[in-house]
Amino acid sequence: MNNTHLFILAFLFVLMQPKDVFSQTYARNGMVVSSSEIASQVGIDILKKGGNAIDASIATAFALAVTHPSAGNIGGGGFLVFMDSAGVTTTIDFREKAPLNATTDMFLNDAGDVSTGTNLYGNKSTINHIGAKSIGVPGTVAGLYLAHQKFGSLPWADLVQPSIEIAKNGFPLNWGLYRAAIFFDDNSPVLFLRNYFRKDNGEITQFGEIWKQPALANTLKEIRDHGRDGFYKGRIAKEIIKFMEEHGGIITMVDLEQYIAVERKPIKGTYKDYEIYSMPPPSSGGVALIEMMNVMELANLDTIEFNSTAYVHLVAEAMRRAFADRAEYLGDSDFNPDMPLDKLTSKSFAKERFNHIDMTKASVSDSSKFGQLYDGTNTTHFSVMDKAGNAVSLTYTLEHSYGSGMGSSQLGFIFNNEMGDFNPQPNMTNNSGQIGTSANLLQPGKRMLSSMTPTIVAKDGKPYLVIGSPGGRTIINTVFQTVLNVLAYDMYIDQAIEAMKIHHQWLPDIIYYEKMLLSPDTRKALEAMGHTLVDRDELGELMGIQVDRENNVLIGASDSSNPNGAAIGY
Ligand code: GLY
Repeated sequence: MNNTHLFILAFLFVLMQPKDVFSQTYARNGMVVSSSEIASQVGIDILKKGGNAIDASIATAFALAVTHPSAGNIGGGGFLVFMDSAGVTTTIDFREKAPLNATTDMFLNDAGDVSTGTNLYGNKSTINHIGAKSIGVPGTVAGLYLAHQKFGSLPWADLVQPSIEIAKNGFPLNWGLYRAAIFFDDNSPVLFLRNYFRKDNGEITQFGEIWKQPALANTLKEIRDHGRDGFYKGRIAKEIIKFMEEHGGIITMVDLEQYIAVERKPIKGTYKDYEIYSMPPPSSGGVALIEMMNVMELANLDTIEFNSTAYVHLVAEAMRRAFADRAEYLGDSDFNPDMPLDKLTSKSFAKERFNHIDMTKASVSDSSKFGQLYDGTNTTHFSVMDKAGNAVSLTYTLEHSYGSGMGSSQLGFIFNNEMGDFNPQPNMTNNSGQIGTSANLLQPGKRMLSSMTPTIVAKDGKPYLVIGSPGGRTIINTVFQTVLNVLAYDMYIDQAIEAMKIHHQWLPDIIYYEKMLLSPDTRKALEAMGHTLVDRDELGELMGIQVDRENNVLIGASDSSNPNGAAIGY
């Protein structure tokens, strides 16, 4: 056989592969899947140096703060779920906290309503997402440091160093960052963002040009040399407080000194033979995910075809119920010790919920009780597995894309606007999108309710699926459907990620669906059942790993909705 024959055979082989196989990455020794190819590579390099999944996650998180600054961060917070190779699972909560000087009514005007203002995109928005008062006490550095102290193996400095180098030497500005650069240059009322992507000569960095962040490199050096204290004490802390004083922020040195990340017991559920571990409050993600999986377990999915009318209806009704419960019950567990978490995640509660689903018509969300939350849609998730079989699922965020947009030019990083995730107005729950239930009202030192859902599914007591997504409230539902796709519909991780997603969040009473992926006939049938449908370009940006134990291989998949994301294995 000559080279031409070989080429034709190879070409035919490629043609014969199902389309979905193309986004799978295979590896035996380790895998990192993140929203940035550069950051995934940083994680893999750490694994190759002998680091474990926690080490690689810390290095990847710092790298994302440099290469994916819309959500990767040191000025925000998030959650980490860790399962070791023996299946022992824990979580680290590094969600931001309300400053001690915050008050429950701090975002209300004289009439007792939530004021509005102009956000960093030049759009009208509620005031709890705007300006220095929207900044929660950042948790990322404390969370990563705690993870390292408990489970890391390589020296801390080795994990921060790669990001210092990327920030100092720069990297080619990708299309998404370039678009942000020109958008903010023309539009943003926030000065820091207008200057964020500029070169030394004051010009905006162009697409493909090297973008350097020297101030961020210096900040990261402090963190490299002094660990947690490099951020919460000393030069960085002083500069943060100076910034707050100059811009009307309320975070004080006491807030920084007292901030702690905490290890929490994961929320656990089962679906048939699988065990599901996810984030407990202050995230609502784990509780809602388990509630919905329990509801789905009661349906005979063998008779319900994926993407059919019955499928969309059932999934939407499960979502409607879980989001109503989320709004009613959930908030920071340190302030709400009596939340009914066991009940919400129990099989018997799911049965009650399931029994009230009418498979012929849509339920009606009761607008007098609950409404939507204003969670931001920009967050980032990554999944990591190492050679020994340890797994990390980490989601962290600045809340909105580029957070508050505010930052100090001396420090080079962006502050979150996470205070907008609290319920801003007591007892005010309405159809236009506000929740006023008490569990998530703003209180000093409290962590705001989140939707982040970093999740690990175990099979036979070992990691099987590592998954998560950005997307505000849609996170819970996109993770739910991806897990369901693998566990109930036997999809590979990449198929499950790319498959059609819907989103229903109780109120507004709407099924959002990924446009082009739901047929006109199905939409018509759903409308006839009483559903209202609205399309979305896409839902979720899932980054996942599946373990094929039979063939001893890790399968990584990065959502095609982010062209800069990458699953890298070795
Ligand atoms: N900031 C988005 C979330 O925590 O769900």
